[in-house]
Amino acid sequence: MINWWRTSFGEEEIERVVNSIRNQNISQGKVTVEFERCLSEYLEVDHVVATSSGSTALALALMAVGVRPGDEVIVPNRTWIATAHAAHLLGAKVVLVDVEASRPILDVKKVESLLTERTRAIIPVHMNGRSVDMNSLQILAKRHNLAIIEDAAQAIGSKNSSGFLGTQSDVGCFSLSVAKTIATGQGGFAVTNNKDLALKLRALRTHGVENVTDPGKWGLPGFNFRFTDIQASMGIEQLKRLPKRIQVLNSIYEMYLDGLGRTTLRPIEVNLAGGEIPVYNEFLLNDREELINELRSAGIETRPFYPDLDKADYLGQNGRDFPNSRKYGVNGIYLPSGPTQNIADIKTVIQKICALRPI
Ligand SMILES: Cc1ncc(COP(=O)(O)O)c(C=O)c1O
Repeated sequence: MINWWRTSFGEEEIERVVNSIRNQNISQGKVTVEFERCLSEYLEVDHVVATSSGSTALALALMAVGVRPGDEVIVPNRTWIATAHAAHLLGAKVVLVDVEASRPILDVKKVESLLTERTRAIIPVHMNGRSVDMNSLQILAKRHNLAIIEDAAQAIGSKNSSGFLGTQSDVGCFSLSVAKTIATGQGGFAVTNNKDLALKLRALRTHGVENVTDPGKWGLPGFNFRFTDIQASMGIEQLKRLPKRIQVLNSIYEMYLDGLGRTTLRPIEVNLAGGEIPVYNEFLLNDREELINELRSAGIETRPFYPDLDKADYLGQNGRDFPNSRKYGVNGIYLPSGPTQNIADIKTVIQKICALRPI
């Protein structure tokens, strides 16, 4: 079987994890601090706060910028549902916005008409390494005094002309779950260049206290969103692999683009030349379910796109129209991807699709 996602962990990760356990570095401690330092160096950002997942990084970020029950948070209709759940579970109202016509990322032009006096924050999601128009969003947020929290869960290492995605707002949030360019099993982190926000993120990660063994006083209602040194040990080694992995992801993407040009599959492109990194290989086709089944019979696993978020009734967006999102939710497919996917397997997938869906 060729799996839809393939990543790997080497002897270096194993050795560092074993050492961490031997040294009793089990929970969040000095290895986590070291991992945070490595990430802040790589991303050229002042503060990194490791968390138990990308989802909890988003929740922390929303708490840190002061989102409260009844506030409204702008979220694109195309993202993993974690983005919306982070706001929803804090008691905020999620207000969904359609995506751009030709890219499945927040259409900044559609945001202003949805703002109310309750709007507190906007979460641009850099889906599959694609940069949301951050310049326009920053101007808009400044004019309306709104916080921006970037969801860069799928965008580690991706850049636009201003630098790394995830570092161009109040707080950027990243995921280290398995189907990401670097992984620690579960895990994530929040980044910021704002010292006060960094202090808040750190405190909120541990029940609002600076020092868990000697809290002194109760300051903020936080929670346990902590990382562990065992995960950090994996993360330090995974981060060393990131530059090579980015090269592999880019070349797999180019192989698909070249190889599937004469099939009925249409690529959802990323801007490689501009510094965007395609973590996943995303295509549109009309008969998605049929192709998924035919490929499965041939030993090739693929994934349909997640449904649009307005399909979640509890988010209360019924009756609103999201014309650009629809084609992605209905026709989008992920072809086998991942930083340690076999090149020979990618060739097999391309050959098979060329045979099944020629133009
Ligand atoms: C766009 C997006 N946001 C948030 C998350 C949540 O990250 P995690 O799975 O680490 O909680 C993911 C993870 O898949 C994601 O893809």
